[in-house]
Amino acid sequence: MGNSIVITGGAGFIGSHLVERFVDDGHDVLCLDSFDDYYDPGIKRSNVARFMERRNFTLLEGDVRDRSLVKRALEGAECVFHLAAQAGVRASVIDPLKAHEVNTLGTLNILQAALDGGVRKVVYASSSSVYGKVEYLPFDESHPRAPVSPYGLSKLMAEEYCRLFHEIYGLEMVSLRYFTVYGPRMRPDLAISIFAKRALQNLPIEIFGTGERTRDFTYIDDVVRANVLAMKCNGGVYNIGSGERISIKCLAERIIRQTNSRSRIVFREDAPGDAQHTWANTDRAGEGLGWRSEVDINTGLQRYLKWLTGCDFGRLDDRADD
Ligand SMILES: NC(=O)c1ccc[n+]([C@@H]2O[C@H](COP(=O)([O-])OP(=O)(O)OC[C@H]3O[C@@H](n4cnc5c(N)ncnc54)[C@H](O)[C@@H]3O)[C@@H](O)[C@H]2O)c1
Repeated sequence: MGNSIVITGGAGFIGSHLVERFVDDGHDVLCLDSFDDYYDPGIKRSNVARFMERRNFTLLEGDVRDRSLVKRALEGAECVFHLAAQAGVRASVIDPLKAHEVNTLGTLNILQAALDGGVRKVVYASSSSVYGKVEYLPFDESHPRAPVSPYGLSKLMAEEYCRLFHEIYGLEMVSLRYFTVYGPRMRPDLAISIFAKRALQNLPIEIFGTGERTRDFTYIDDVVRANVLAMKCNGGVYNIGSGERISIKCLAERIIRQTNSRSRIVFREDAPGDAQHTWANTDRAGEGLGWRSEVDINTGLQRYLKWLTGCDFGRLDDRADD
């Protein structure tokens, strides 16, 4: 097919932002996506609808587990951004086999096809979930990997295949370990999206556990920029996070304050599979990619809420922190 950039999972949240950037930059982009029903496929269709008329965009509907289709899609591509995955920690606790098949075997399939098809570089969407159990914070890339969910393990195994394909076959590889990504078009199953929608309707906001878990939240524009830089860099594994963390309870309180909501917070029994803390040390991304986060959580929340509602709720002042 000879498209220079292939984006798997290009109809999803992060993938559709990459499609937008690379199509706008004038690259020939092929999006491979199965429109999986983990969440409403209609959302994914509308994510890519805007590109259908663009001459440098091609949509290929199919599964990364389908060997012959993947082989055809990657033949002669210059760079592959591999994002297609069964996302979601809780989904993987319910169906670990699917997480393994899509995330690990699907990635192996992509790597083999990339090698066979003469692809110059693969950029793999890895995850902070590869770290799991905390030995120290913030996580640098050398922190031990001990995933606490089938999802985390499936992403780690895929990342290890990426490393091996580089070491054994010389395939140029970059793995970007994203720390919880948010922003316009974000997945409906992620906390910021759920909390914001509940807050806007003054409905109770549910938190699993005590709310003391902390997360490093990364704004989508920062993630897109990291991918653009990854296309030009020499390879490696990089944390892509904001470098700041906040507790889930604090996040809910900020969203309530920012939207002037009357929602109250209710605590529910803890769910298995969630890591206790994530927090990125991004020094290596600074050195190797020339990347650093530019959007802090308060600015990111303001932008996300504006996209969601069309209204400007303003930016929470840092001094108003809990
Ligand atoms: N969003 C985050 O916070 C986050 C954090 C760390 C890593 N990641 C990784 O980033 C990538 C994108 O995540 P996202 O949040 O955009 O998720 P998403 O679910 O919105 O996007 C994934 C896309 O992959 C497609 N897909 C699923 N199974 C497929 C299959 N078998 N064949 C082809 N396509 C398939 C889906 O239809 C979807 O469009 C994933 O690899 C995920 O593991 C995301």
